Amino acid sequence: MQKKRAFFKEAVKNIKTSGTIVPSSKYLIKKMLKTVDFSNTKIVVEYGSGNGIITKEILKKLDKNGKLICFEINNEFYNHLLKINDSRLIVVNESSENINLVINKLNIIEVDCIISSLPLTNIPDQISINILKQSYLQLKKNGVFLQYQYSLTYFKKLKEIYKNVDLEFEIRNLPPAFIYICKKI
Ligand SMILES: C[S@@+](CC[C@H](N)C(=O)[O-])C[C@H]1O[C@@H](n2cnc3c(N)ncnc32)[C@H](O)[C@@H]1O
Repeated sequence: MQKKRAFFKEAVKNIKTSGTIVPSSKYLIKKMLKTVDFSNTKIVVEYGSGNGIITKEILKKLDKNGKLICFEINNEFYNHLLKINDSRLIVVNESSENINLVINKLNIIEVDCIISSLPLTNIPDQISINILKQSYLQLKKNGVFLQYQYSLTYFKKLKEIYKNVDLEFEIRNLPPAFIYICKKI
């Protein structure tokens, strides 16, 4: 599963929910995570962890007392993520739509940062909007919501929710990707 071929096979089989056929590039991951102040970040949520390529990089940077809660609906990817041996990691086989339920169950008050690989444009609009609104509610003040996408379709919708949205672009990814950096002010 670590290999790109295994990701490709599973992603193609579920192209509607995976939204891609290759995992994120190291350049995209580096650019995304550079925007997070890990010295001030303890509780991180990741949406759509896939084969864990971003998950492992988050864990490298996360505080030793931190927590990373990963949402993944694909059973193959979920089972693969369970093999990552790190006591700070919690993997749930749930849709990101249920962030409020999962966070409450874990007795977490608020989240510092959400890092999303969800293919928002493949998900029904109402569900995507619901996920974005729920995410906003779970974030602490000054918390950050990060999302990469292959188009700017969601820029306006994110701006309506977060007001403060910055944009980065990474060409060294297949396909090249925009990164939305949304701050809860
Ligand atoms: C574009 S892939 C990203 C994989 C990996 N994070 C990366 O960047 O290479 C999107 C992932 O989101 C997952 N996914 C799609 N809809 C989801 C949802 N509602 N909740 C949680 N995960 C979801 C898919 O199963 C897939 O693994």
